[in-house]
Amino acid sequence: MRWSEPQRAMLREMGLRLWRPQTAAAPGLASPGTTGPSHAPADEWAGSIKPKSDAPPIAASGLALTAATMDWPALQSTVESCRACSLCENRRKTVFGVGHLRAQCMVVGEAPGEQEDARGEPFVGDSGQLLDRMLRALGLSREATQPDDAARQVFITNTVKCRPPRNRNPTGDELSACQPFLQRQVALVQPKVIIAMGAFAARSLLGSDEPIGKLRGRMHRWRGVPVVVTYHPAYLLRQPADKARAWEDLCLAATCLAPRAD
Ligand code: URA
Repeated sequence: MRWSEPQRAMLREMGLRLWRPQTAAAPGLASPGTTGPSHAPADEWAGSIKPKSDAPPIAASGLALTAATMDWPALQSTVESCRACSLCENRRKTVFGVGHLRAQCMVVGEAPGEQEDARGEPFVGDSGQLLDRMLRALGLSREATQPDDAARQVFITNTVKCRPPRNRNPTGDELSACQPFLQRQVALVQPKVIIAMGAFAARSLLGSDEPIGKLRGRMHRWRGVPVVVTYHPAYLLRQPADKARAWEDLCLAATCLAPRAD
């Protein structure tokens, strides 16, 4: 993959240096001979959004059966009127998701925060700005840059569609209640790859409580769809040294996407 000057600028903006590989690239990363990620220090992940390992497992709910056959309008209106868990009590807006409905790349975050709750759109705060820069560095965007561009326009959503009060972590029950919506979104989008950002996205999609540091850097699968787990942008804002690892993960995800024409 060759990086255009705007992409290089974006990588610099993310705080990543472009390197010329001295040795062969690690398996699964951007192909050798291209610019790629700089190396991060080898400190282990210690993010604060790791779920408690004694949290209840995510169980299928009755909603799963009905959500599994819904089309987009039915799914969206079901989310908007959902009262399956207590998060509905304090929400201002549900946050369904944005982007191309048949995007090749789907991004799954954790939960709406205050700004997302007010706007009804995922990732519009500080972490959303970082996410947008990360996507732009890959030539991807949440917005349509040309008509019907499923290769470049992503679909972004969260594990839960309503804001947890005071931005607390979603509980196992809340993740469980919202899981049929996420699963149906994936089934409708049919992405070539899902980027799961943070521990709750990994937990909701893969059922894993392992720390991100153990899950990242390799390809997982959810119902046959490749899933790349990486750090949540909010964590990267606190731990910028791990941006290089996140970039490696994005490059791994990009290997599932159609090659760029330019
Ligand atoms: N963090 C998330 O995980 N999702 C959002 O929509 C906003 C912040």
